[in-house]
Amino acid sequence: MSLASEYKQQFGWRYWPTIFDALPSLQGQTILDLGCGVGELAAELVACGARVIGVDMNEELLREARSRQLSNAEFRAADLRRLPELGIAAAAYAMYGTARPRADGATFG
Ligand SMILES: C[S@@+](CC[C@H](N)C(=O)[O-])C[C@H]1O[C@@H](n2cnc3c(N)ncnc32)[C@H](O)[C@@H]1O
Repeated sequence: MSLASEYKQQFGWRYWPTIFDALPSLQGQTILDLGCGVGELAAELVACGARVIGVDMNEELLREARSRQLSNAEFRAADLRRLPELGIAAAAYAMYGTARPRADGATFG
């Protein structure tokens, strides 16, 4: 199975309605899809009225994403570790568990 096919299969394993329900309206928003892969999430975001800039370093996956010909999405090849050089974001952070309560009741971040 190709990597693109693998990612397409994995997309179906996630419960996207729960995630989208938790988001504010995406209408008119510009969303940076970091590690966009085959563009499945980008397609969902565009369907919600967003404009999407997808970034990935894998050409095979980007070809698949671009073949969707989404009206309001563009897919760029870049290494996320060099994102500032793209001129679309100064930095990107992924944070997990930053609001987890501590034993003393205070919270991180
Ligand atoms: C687990 S896949 C997720 C794909 C897609 N976001 C999804 O949810 O189905 C991670 C993606 O990040 C991309 N990626 C990983 N490291 C990267 C980097 N340093 N720069 C650009 N893309 C990267 C991979 O090529 C891959 O498409």
